[in-house]
Amino acid sequence: MKITIAGAGYVGLSNAVLLAQHNQVTLVDVIQEKINLINQHKSPIADKEIEDYLLTKDLDLTATMDAGSAYSDADYVIISTPTNYDPEKNHFDTTSVEAVIRQVVEHNPNAVIVIKSTVPVGYTVSVREKLRCSNILFSPEFLREGRALYDNLYPSRIIVAAPRGDESLYEKARQFSELLKEGAIKKDVPILLTDLTEAEAIKLFANTYLALRVAFFNEYEPTYSGKLFFGSRIIQDLKEFKEMSDVIVSNRYAADLADVKDKVYTRDLYMRD
Ligand SMILES: NC(=O)c1ccc[n+]([C@@H]2O[C@H](COP(=O)([O-])OP(=O)(O)OC[C@H]3O[C@@H](n4cnc5c(N)ncnc54)[C@H](O)[C@@H]3O)[C@@H](O)[C@H]2O)c1
Repeated sequence: MKITIAGAGYVGLSNAVLLAQHNQVTLVDVIQEKINLINQHKSPIADKEIEDYLLTKDLDLTATMDAGSAYSDADYVIISTPTNYDPEKNHFDTTSVEAVIRQVVEHNPNAVIVIKSTVPVGYTVSVREKLRCSNILFSPEFLREGRALYDNLYPSRIIVAAPRGDESLYEKARQFSELLKEGAIKKDVPILLTDLTEAEAIKLFANTYLALRVAFFNEYEPTYSGKLFFGSRIIQDLKEFKEMSDVIVSNRYAADLADVKDKVYTRDLYMRD
């Protein structure tokens, strides 16, 4: 399979190395220095597994700034360009994603585009209409910076989304999920094929849940200062409790979420102040 990846950052480079084990991969970036380093088998970012794989593995990987020719014969084009949040405009800046889609449409309208950049919920459906390009999938990325390739070699799950009801693109989504799985070391990886907006929401909910947990532990940390917290039996107990709390949430026992303040399970929290 011929795969071109736009953006040689944490997401693009880790996916490029993962996929270049079994596919012909071309990595496109706008920074010449990054291109030179990758073509010399050196990583422009600090990531142990990427550094090791570039040096020691037999990868079919080339980096270039010539976007037009890199897109022109690709079966899949993965977009992993930045979508930084602009606090003034209060939205994600998706300009670079749209610039890549325009180039792909110009050079290779039959290529299947997979957006891996983080985008707002509903974005992929709207950009398909805005740029009159129907071949667009979305696949959320869950890696950590510095462990980017490791997290793709041992993924918690693989999610690829296609437009609801489009059988042919659904099949492309399934094929793409198999390419990611083929490159992974962990083999029992759950694969979830969803519709576009659902996958964007999964990414948003996962990030929000993570932020919530970090804030929760930061809040309680001073209470337990001096004692082992992470990896302790407190964390173990929360793991056991998670299943039960999922049932409570899904049963909507916490039906009126605005009313949590008066519930028994939040009383202890509020009594701290
Ligand atoms: N870093 C993470 O942990 C992480 C995790 C999940 C999702 N994401 C999302 O993935 C996307 C990429 O993140 P990243 O951390 O890899 O970013 P990054 O800044 O490390 O890399 C992005 C790369 O894209 C290049 N680029 C910019 N415009 C381009 C264009 N038009 N064509 C080709 N290349 C272009 C930049 O030069 C840069 O090398 C973002 O939307 C981010 O939110 C990041």
